[in-house]
Amino acid sequence: MIDTSAGVTDAHTRPLDGPLVSASILSADFARLGEQCVEVLEAGADTLHVDVMDGHFVPNLSMGPAICAGVRRAVDAFIDVHLMVTDPLAYLEPFAAAGANHCTGHVEVLDMPLEFRNRCHALGMSAGIAINPKTPLEALDGVAEAFDLVLVMSVHPGFSGQSFIPEVLEKTRAISARQSSTQRLEMDGGVSPANAEAVRAAGCDVLVAASAIFGGDDYAGTIAALRGGGRD
Ligand code: DX5
Ligand code: ZN
Repeated sequence: MIDTSAGVTDAHTRPLDGPLVSASILSADFARLGEQCVEVLEAGADTLHVDVMDGHFVPNLSMGPAICAGVRRAVDAFIDVHLMVTDPLAYLEPFAAAGANHCTGHVEVLDMPLEFRNRCHALGMSAGIAINPKTPLEALDGVAEAFDLVLVMSVHPGFSGQSFIPEVLEKTRAISARQSSTQRLEMDGGVSPANAEAVRAAGCDVLVAASAIFGGDDYAGTIAALRGGGRD
């Protein structure tokens, strides 16, 4: 196991020092998941993104707390959990117990977003709110400012390997303009070196990528290209 803890355990609340790259393990080789986590962290990924799908909010099943706990045993990195589930509140305690540092729930299903935020914080995690490509910006009115992070979906959630939807950049710029200097803005879906500059220019400081990283051979080169020139 490598020590990847320096500077990343508080990744979503520390002062910003350049864009973060979050490697989504959805495209990892699950037969050797622990090794793959080590490899992308050694290649420069700042955090690991764990996509949780319930087969109801999205038409796919993926990972639960046991996988998160396995990742936690393998590495000491910041784990960013993306809850694509109909009842995100129900999963906060299991994922906190499994070693998650952060949970994001979707605005489309969170009836009590502040309770979600408060429970994340009470469990020692930072809190995010996600918005789907077709959901209007207004859904975040009076909500987004309470969260440590806003996640903009740039594909329809459910699968890795889809094409980036450029229309979400306008919504992203509007969200960025309203954020405080301590809030993070994360883009998720189809993010690659080809569109990373546009994503960062729209205000994002956390770039999630699954297939762009795990689908190639040069993890370090891809991660550096996603991050851009701000940091080695
Ligand atoms: C999609 C997930 C994403 C996905 C990204 O529903 O939320 O995190 O893993 O995969 P890529 O980067 O391949 O689009
Ligand atoms: Zn995700």
